[in-house]
Amino acid sequence: MSHRTLNGIRGVVTGASSGIGQAFVKALLPFRPRLLVVARREERLQQLSQLGAQYGAVVIPFACDVSQPEAAKRICEVAHQNFEGIDLLVNNAGIGALGRFEDSPPEELRQVINVNLFSLVETTYYLLPLLKKGRRPIIVNVSSILGHRGIPWRSYYCASKFAVRGFSEAIRAELARHGIDVLVVSPGRTATELFEGPLEKGKTPAWPDPKPVSAEYVAQRMLRAIQRGRHEIIPHPWGRLMVLVSRLAPRLMDWILQRYG
Ligand SMILES: NC(=O)c1ccc[n+]([C@@H]2O[C@H](COP(=O)([O-])OP(=O)(O)OC[C@H]3O[C@@H](n4cnc5c(N)ncnc54)[C@H](OP(=O)(O)O)[C@@H]3O)[C@@H](O)[C@H]2O)c1
Repeated sequence: MSHRTLNGIRGVVTGASSGIGQAFVKALLPFRPRLLVVARREERLQQLSQLGAQYGAVVIPFACDVSQPEAAKRICEVAHQNFEGIDLLVNNAGIGALGRFEDSPPEELRQVINVNLFSLVETTYYLLPLLKKGRRPIIVNVSSILGHRGIPWRSYYCASKFAVRGFSEAIRAELARHGIDVLVVSPGRTATELFEGPLEKGKTPAWPDPKPVSAEYVAQRMLRAIQRGRHEIIPHPWGRLMVLVSRLAPRLMDWILQRYG
């Protein structure tokens, strides 16, 4: 199939106030998209909107806490007010969580799942009617290499990101008949504000972190994958290696990771 064109693309991007989401929106601006951008930090979204205007893009800020029960419906209402159909949904909003399982009260899991999974699923559900009216529509769900392989100190985060991959694979098969693609993005370590979140800050795991890639690099890989209709990308060289070794030699990976448990 021919490449998907990004020119004038209409869509919704969550988690657009920093990191990968913000870099993605910035990378898309030269294509003059019409985007609804969602996050809690409104001033950051306003800045993105002003930047967008310089490119002739329309960037509509919508400040919203996606962990709240009615958030997905509200995003959908605003999307309906602005678009007759959407071609792109990027479910990128996410939070990290670090710590040994035995030191992590289950309430933390609820916080992680609320943002990383429930909001992603609900936003997708309520925006489906608009996606069905889109031009070669695509849903982009941001998972992680930790949605491929569980590692110590990140049990709750891994649980949320495995769920995102499973959900995405299932709906990809269902939505194909509506012509809707589903791309899973599984970043490895990326230099963003994720590690300054409330469930991350001040904790140091026992392993050396791999060199991070930039959010701009991930964003460019996402754009290319959307154009090409890819099903999954792992935009980190060490991340790709980790996923490969986990698949080919899971016991070896278990042995390595136990040293950091
Ligand atoms: N950085 C990495 O190494 C890495 C690796 C694998 C996967 N990922 C995934 O990549 C995605 C983007 O993360 P990032 O690394 O770019 O981190 P980031 O810079 O912290 O960005 C996270 C985004 O999510 C938004 N967000 C978080 N909680 C929210 C809430 N309750 N309501 C609305 N928006 C919320 C944040 O906006 P506000 O704070 O303004 O609300 C921000 O725009 C996440 O899904 C993350 O799990 C990141």
